[in-house]
Amino acid sequence: MLTRVPKADIRKGMFVEAVECSAAAFGKRRFLLNSHQDYLAIQESPADFVVINTTYGTEAAPHSGQRPLTRAEKRAEAAATLTRSIKALKTELITVVVGGKLNLESLSKVVEEIGQADSETTSLFYDLTRFRQKDEALFQHSLAVGILMGKLGTALELDTDTVALLVLSGLLHDVGKLTLSKNILQKQTPLTAVERKLLRSHPQRGHHLLKRHVIVPDEVLDVCLHHHEALDGSGYPSGKSASEISQMVRIATVCDAFDKLTTARPGKSDRGVAEAIAWMFARDHQFDRKLVLRLGAIIDD
Ligand SMILES: [Fe+2]
Repeated sequence: MLTRVPKADIRKGMFVEAVECSAAAFGKRRFLLNSHQDYLAIQESPADFVVINTTYGTEAAPHSGQRPLTRAEKRAEAAATLTRSIKALKTELITVVVGGKLNLESLSKVVEEIGQADSETTSLFYDLTRFRQKDEALFQHSLAVGILMGKLGTALELDTDTVALLVLSGLLHDVGKLTLSKNILQKQTPLTAVERKLLRSHPQRGHHLLKRHVIVPDEVLDVCLHHHEALDGSGYPSGKSASEISQMVRIATVCDAFDKLTTARPGKSDRGVAEAIAWMFARDHQFDRKLVLRLGAIIDD
């Protein structure tokens, strides 16, 4: 749980999420406070309060005047996390596309923040991705799918390593789209047959890019290549049948479609949560109904 404490009340053993001042004044974030040097640096900073996470460190003393974060403060925290996450995601996705070395370390911070956050925080975090700018749409969609996949995995009581893989898969699933021109991605009129063929090649393009990095787990490659498969074999690129589609891919398919359905796009208005869930539930030839229902229950929470 995130708690805001006066800086005078911090002590070793607390897990510091953020010190409430500019990064220039105190830039270190998310660390276990165990050095006197860090303690002094916080005391000398212009901040009045420090946000600690009691899930990872000791709690503040009861007399410290601590109070849980207000919704507005939590929202501000989530917005800061979102900004950091998009920046990291953008850097890494672009690195993959231009043939650079993928740094999973930087993405693992995003995975960790999403995978270990409590459900209220992930809900806030997900809400914030809805305020997307057009040119940021792909990055925000990737982030939203990562968050949804993590939430669904947690609701399904999958272990933390699997939840982390789900989040990472969501973040990377559409990387192949970055190899396509903006004219195709943002086209407001119907695509030509050639353009549609190009667009539908993004799973293979992404898979090809990610495969070159030995550090990318097989599950992430599986999701990237198969997130447009359908249970009845009508999907692409492989036309896989239900028995050949892994649970991780099924989770990705449901979360990917849900985020697209509930997000306004050029020429298409967004649907409400209930409408999107009903639309997907009616298409059990395409989506796993159990996962659709579970997703609906989480978002309705
Ligand atoms: Fe996709």
